[in-house]
Amino acid sequence: MAVIKVTDRDGIEHDVDAKTGFTLMENLRDLEYGVAAVCGGMCACATCHVYIDPEWFDRLPARQSDELDLLRDLSTYQPNSRLSCQIKFTGELAGLKLRIADDE
Ligand code: FES
Repeated sequence: MAVIKVTDRDGIEHDVDAKTGFTLMENLRDLEYGVAAVCGGMCACATCHVYIDPEWFDRLPARQSDELDLLRDLSTYQPNSRLSCQIKFTGELAGLKLRIADDE
């Protein structure tokens, strides 16, 4: 377990205990902050879209082309967009800050 800082769609920051060995999406979907994760992590729905704090963005593994293609189709896409299902949460990411993206 390690704490991550999650800002919800109302702009409220929460400390969330995240389990290592799971994806960020798996750590977020049971919370009530709007990560629906409809496709279950298959990189097919983008309902796990988050914005990574710029200080953390380059510390994450790079986006693969299928993730980037899906993100770029979103009207809510930003340069720091990620699909949280594509990020494995590890101990090195303790303290990670992210914001839940608005619904499409
Ligand atoms: S859960 Fe569907 S793309 Fe991430």
